[in-house]
Formats: sequence, structure tokens, C-alpha cells
Amino acid sequence: MQEMIGDCGLTLQKIDGQMLPEIGYHIRRDHQHKGYAKEAASAVRDWAFQNLPYPALYSYCKWTNTASIKTAEAIGMHFDKEYPDDQNGITHVSVIHRPMLERQES
Ligand SMILES: CC(C)(COP(=O)(O)OP(=O)(O)OC[C@H]1O[C@@H](n2cnc3c(N)ncnc32)[C@H](O)[C@@H]1OP(=O)(O)O)[C@@H](O)C(=O)NCCC(=O)NCCS
Repeated sequence: MQEMIGDCGLTLQKIDGQMLPEIGYHIRRDHQHKGYAKEAASAVRDWAFQNLPYPALYSYCKWTNTASIKTAEAIGMHFDKEYPDDQNGITHVSVIHRPMLERQES
């Protein structure tokens, strides 16, 4: 039987006042810790760099959301910044830049 266990995709999000391409992910609790978010976010990262001109991709979450931050880091992202906001108290931003080789070729 096929069933929905989560979602992952690219959207434009307002991050610290800027509209930026963000990889978001949610996996149903009973299917977490199986590598699904990493697998899905990696595919979105690769698709975005191959098909869209963005120089960098972002993920953001509440600063205490270790699972989300670790998922971002698992696909090659690193710490970009943290900033205060009403919803999260402090929002943590991770970023991955387009690989240098591709930037030189294009
Ligand atoms: C964030 C979330 C999508 C991760 O989903 P997942 O399928 O369990 O993640 P994965 O199994 O693919 O793990 C990805 C990486 O994060 C790490 N990780 C996942 N959950 C973790 C946790 N609770 N604590 C520490 N590390 C964690 C894994 O070890 C893995 O790293 P590795 O490849 O270096 O070992 C899931 O926890 C979730 O849906 N959370 C609620 C929604 C949410 O917060 N979404 C993001 C912000 S909007």
C-alpha cells in the first residue's frame, strides 16, 4: 500500500527579510531516523542546482530544532546565521552554495 509519510521541496521563504530559496522537509514521526529526509533533501538540492540559477540554497528553523539542522548539514549545508524573530525566538539558517566547478563552467 502506498501512503504519504512526509514532504520535501523547494519554496521561496522570507528569511531575515530576504526572499530566498529554501529546502523544507517534514517526515511523519513513525518514519523518522530512516534517512528519508536526507534522501529527499539531497534530491531537491541536486535538482535545484541543475535546473535553477540560484547561487545558494537555504534551510531555516527554530534554533533548537536539532533534527532539522542536522538534516541540513547531512546534505552539505553549513551554518549561515541566526537572527531573532517573533515565531521562533531565534531562527537558525543553514546554507549550501552552488559548487565552484559548476559556477566556473556556466
Ligand atoms: C527534520 C526531519 C524532517 C528529519 O527527518 P528524518 O527522516 O528523521 O531525518 P534523516 O533520518 O534523513 O536524518 C538526516 C540527518 O539528521 C540526523 N538527525 C535526524 N534526526 C535527528 C535528531 N533528532 N537529533 C540529531 N540528529 C538527527 C541524522 O542522524 C542524519 O544525519 P547523518 O546522515 O549525518 O547521520 C524530521 O525530524 C521532522 O519531520 N521533524 C518535524 C518537522 C520539522 O521540524 N521540519 C523542519 C523545519 S520546518
